[in-house]
Amino acid sequence: MIKDILKKENLSKEDLLTLIQIKNPEDLKLLFDEAYKLKLKYIGNKVYYRGLIECSNICIKNCKYCGIRKDNKNVDRFSLSQDEILEISQWVYENGFGSLALQSGERNDKEFVDFIEDTLIKIQNKCSNSLGITLSLGEQTLETYKRWRNAGASRYLLRIETTNRELFKKIHFDDKLHSFDKRLQALKDLRTTGYQVGTGVMIGLPGQTYEDLVNDIIFFKENDIDMIGMGPYIIHEETPLGKEALGKILSDEERLTLSLKMIALCRLYLKDINIAATTALHALHPFGREKGILAGANVIMPNATSKNIKPKYQLYRGKPNLDDDALKGKLALEKSLKEIGEEVVYFKKGDSPHFFNRIK
Ligand code: 5AD
Ligand code: SF4
Repeated sequence: MIKDILKKENLSKEDLLTLIQIKNPEDLKLLFDEAYKLKLKYIGNKVYYRGLIECSNICIKNCKYCGIRKDNKNVDRFSLSQDEILEISQWVYENGFGSLALQSGERNDKEFVDFIEDTLIKIQNKCSNSLGITLSLGEQTLETYKRWRNAGASRYLLRIETTNRELFKKIHFDDKLHSFDKRLQALKDLRTTGYQVGTGVMIGLPGQTYEDLVNDIIFFKENDIDMIGMGPYIIHEETPLGKEALGKILSDEERLTLSLKMIALCRLYLKDINIAATTALHALHPFGREKGILAGANVIMPNATSKNIKPKYQLYRGKPNLDDDALKGKLALEKSLKEIGEEVVYFKKGDSPHFFNRIK
C-alpha cells in the first residue's frame, strides 16, 4: 500500500521505485501531499526567489539536447556587458529577491573567468555583500571555482543530467569535453571549495528508465547535495537529440507528472534541501511551478533578464513569458503563490538548511 510506504521515515530503493510508478490519481495526491507536508515542516509555507540572469548564450559544448549548443548555427549569440549585468543585479537586489543566479553557456577562457570574477566583486560591492549568488556556469577548474567563491558567489549549480553513464554518453558526445567522470570531479571540487552544491537531472529523456531516475535520487543523497534543480526534458528540434526524440518520448503531461513525482520523492528522501520548481515545468504548464511547490519544492528562479534578450536564450522550445518584462512576471507569480497559501520571502537569502546542518 502506498499509504504504508509514505509513513516510513526512511525509504528504500524499492519504495522509491514503487512510488515513482504510481498511476492512480488518489495515490498521486497522497504522494504530493506527504511531500508538501515535509516542505512545510522543513521550510514553512515559504518560497525563496533567485533572480535569474542569462548572461550569455555562447557555449563551447555540444550537448545533444540543448538549443544553444555550439554547432547550432541558428542562434543569435550574445553576451551581456558588465554594466547590463550590474543593472539587472541592482533590480534584483532592490526588489528584495535576496538571491540571484548567473547562468550562461560554458566558457573557460581567461577573459571569461576574469570577467565573472570582476562582475561578482562589483555586484557584491553594490549591495553590501548581502545577496546570495548562485553560479550556473558549467565545468571549471578548481582554481576558477575558488576565485569565484572568493569574489562573492556562495552556491553553484551543476547538473549531472543523468547518473546513468550510458545514457550520459548517448545525450552528449563521448569525448573529453563531455565526460561523466569530469562532471563528477567538478561536483567534488565545488564541494571542496565550500559552495552550497546543487545538481539535478533532466526527466523523461529518451531511453531513461524509472530505475535511472531512482538512482539519480540516491546519487543526490550519497553525494550530500544541498540543492536540486531538475525538470522535464523538452525537445528542441534543432538539436540531434530533439530530432531523434520527436514522437518517441512521453507526452508533455506525462513528463510534467513524472517531474512532479521526482520533486516529491527528493523532498521525502532528502528532506532539508532546497528544491527548485524550474522554468521547464512552467514551459509544460502555465502553473507548472506552483504545482512544483505543492509537490515539495521551495525555490523559484524568476527570469530577471530583459525581454529583448530572453528569446535568444532558448535551451528548449516553448520557453514561457518571452514577451513579459521581469516585473510583470514577478507580480503574477506572487499572486498565484498566495492563492496556494505560499508566501514569497523577500530580503533573505534562503540558503539550503541542509548546508548548515552538514557543516555544523
Ligand atoms: N530540455 C530541458 N532541459 C534542458 N537543459 C538544456 N537543454 C534542455 C532541454 N532541451 C538544461 C540542462 C542544463 C541546464 C542549463 O538546462 O539540464 O544543465
Ligand atoms: Fe552549453 Fe549547457 Fe547547453 Fe550543454 S547544456 S550546450 S553546456 S549551455
